[in-house]
Amino acid sequence: MFKVLAVFAVTLTVTATSVAGQAKAGCQSNCGNTSIPYPFETGSTDCNISKRFFIRCNTSFNPPKAFLTTSDIEVLHISLNGYLRIQYSVGYDCYNSSGSAYYFYAGFRLSKFLISHTRNKFTAIGCDTYAYVEGFTGRTYSTGCVSFCYDVADLVNRSCSGIGCCQTALPKGVTDYELSFDSYWKHSKVLSFNPCSYGFAVEDGAYSFSVSDLSNINFSKRKFPIILDWTIGNQSCMEAKMDVDNYACKQNSDCIDPENGRGYLCKCLHGFQDINECETLKPCSGTCHNLPGSYNCSCPKGFEGDGRKKGTGCNPKVKQHFPVLVGTLG
Ligand SMILES: *[C@@H]1O[C@H](CO)[C@@H](O)[C@H](O)[C@H]1NC(C)=O
Ligand SMILES: *[C@@H]1O[C@H](CO)[C@@H](O)[C@H](O)[C@H]1NC(C)=O
Ligand SMILES: *[C@@H]1O[C@H](CO)[C@@H](O)[C@H](O)[C@H]1NC(C)=O
Ligand SMILES: *[C@@H]1O[C@H](CO)[C@@H](O)[C@H](O)[C@H]1NC(C)=O
Ligand SMILES: *[C@@H]1O[C@H](CO)[C@@H](O)[C@H](O)[C@H]1NC(C)=O
Ligand SMILES: *[C@@H]1O[C@H](CO)[C@@H](O)[C@H](O)[C@H]1NC(C)=O
Ligand SMILES: *[C@@H]1O[C@H](CO)[C@@H](O)[C@H](O)[C@H]1NC(C)=O
Ligand SMILES: *[C@@H]1O[C@H](CO)[C@@H](O)[C@H](O)[C@H]1NC(C)=O
Repeated sequence: MFKVLAVFAVTLTVTATSVAGQAKAGCQSNCGNTSIPYPFETGSTDCNISKRFFIRCNTSFNPPKAFLTTSDIEVLHISLNGYLRIQYSVGYDCYNSSGSAYYFYAGFRLSKFLISHTRNKFTAIGCDTYAYVEGFTGRTYSTGCVSFCYDVADLVNRSCSGIGCCQTALPKGVTDYELSFDSYWKHSKVLSFNPCSYGFAVEDGAYSFSVSDLSNINFSKRKFPIILDWTIGNQSCMEAKMDVDNYACKQNSDCIDPENGRGYLCKCLHGFQDINECETLKPCSGTCHNLPGSYNCSCPKGFEGDGRKKGTGCNPKVKQHFPVLVGTLG
């Protein structure tokens, strides 16, 4: 028995005309801390040659936040390796002693992006919980998680293997994500420590189960990162190369076929180029290490601190003089 799904649509259409990578001249290349590389576009109106991958930059936040087109899906990172990291709300189904109290069946529908089947997990937490993901991408798909438990003492932090927390893979090639829930006893047997069931797609590794999440009513306000796959157009590299006028990989870039879905990606020939936060944000006072989708800072030998400009930076280590314990053994 499913309740009505809350779904909104994000529609994107486009023609690519330039090399993927740098933002086009005259276009903003970032929104707050988020780099917006071509073929993604943001900002000014003279930048809308293609409506393809429009990123709405909302400057009423400080720093400004990037959103997918007109949706409320926040974009955290765009990688030229064919993925983007978004942030999205958890779905929930909550009960009190009189029965169903409130619920939110989260979901979205993308037309140009795919939910990565290799880099996300559908996750459900709860102790009287059926959580389903459903969608339609030419074919209907449905998958989900089941979790029942009766005693808070049976639950283990950081363990997501079916007791209070359950994870499963998402199918390949899906653009839809719609949640629904069910419970067997309306949480009546577990109300004292678990009034709600929660469900969310999340980047693999980005959620660690905590027993306290089951009782925390504010968990419904949490958002988690999800990885989407993106490509240019709907042609394979071979087809795209023959379509000279529209072929996007020019100059020093090579065409690669994606592992998920149709279309193609442009990869720079001189080294695998990803967004280099160290270069764009210059966040470290110490040494900056560029990592896929992020960075870390470290201090040179003999210095201590977190190496971040906005943190403790790097300071010379103070030599510790340990008091010498003098005593006698009886
Ligand atoms: C974004 O930039 C602001 C201001 O420069 C900084 O305070 C904040 O920590 C940055 N956020 C991230 C996630 O890097
Ligand atoms: C950009 O898009 C807006 C709204 O669709 C339109 O009014 C404007 O003329 C476009 N600008 C260019 C340069 O295409
Ligand atoms: C920006 O965000 C604020 C606060 O959420 C909202 O009121 C406003 O409509 C948004 N503006 C745009 C252009 O999205
Ligand atoms: C349970 O939730 C419903 C809907 O929000 C509310 O009308 C009802 O008063 C609540 N019952 C109790 C016992 O809190
Ligand atoms: C689980 O983790 C939470 C916070 O992360 C902590 O408060 C709680 O004591 C831990 N519970 C167990 C059983 O380890
Ligand atoms: C939930 O959030 C509200 C408002 O942010 C806060 O006042 C309350 O203490 C939080 N409750 C818990 C259990 O964290
Ligand atoms: C490929 O994209 C073009 C332009 O958006 C569209 O007209 C065409 O129908 C698409 N072809 C297929 C097979 O989806
Ligand atoms: C930062 O990343 C580098 C390169 O992956 C790694 O060797 C180093 O241990 C990391 N440092 C911290 C503090 O995480």
